[in-house]
Amino acid sequence: MQHSEFEEILAQVETFSVAADNFAALQEFAVSLMAERLPSYNWVGFYMLDPDDANTLVLGPFRGAATEHVRIPVSEGICGAAVAQGATILVDDVSCDPRYLACSIETRSEIVVPIWAGGKIVGEIDIDSHEQRAFGPEDRAFLEACAKIFGRFIETHPAVGV
Ligand code: SME
Repeated sequence: MQHSEFEEILAQVETFSVAADNFAALQEFAVSLMAERLPSYNWVGFYMLDPDDANTLVLGPFRGAATEHVRIPVSEGICGAAVAQGATILVDDVSCDPRYLACSIETRSEIVVPIWAGGKIVGEIDIDSHEQRAFGPEDRAFLEACAKIFGRFIETHPAVGV
């Protein structure tokens, strides 16, 4: 990862995660920091798998426009596809991707990064941008490093629930 802004944000998220005793607080800290510091990150949020229904993602803390997609089946959307495939999905132009579920008409590109804990996916980070092709390898590396921090936090705080 080259981008110094990414390195600084990652260091702050890491530091916060060490002191936090509450996953929701860590989520709020992360979405707030990313939305504030990264101008192309126009919508930043978490979707976590419903503990009572492993086939449904539930909207968590976010920054950006309100979305009607508060529950997404894993069979739908780019968000669902990231869980189904167990991999980061990067879409340069959402208008060309039939899986895309629209949140804002301004969105042009999207990246979704799974969060793994205890060997399974527990949720994901979803970022939308108003710019086409806003996300590249550095964004992927940054967000996957963030996802590792979140996954480790969940593994080491089993009582937090997600
Ligand atoms: N675009 C996502 C839905 C979530 S909203 O963007 C916040 C998708 O296609 O799954």
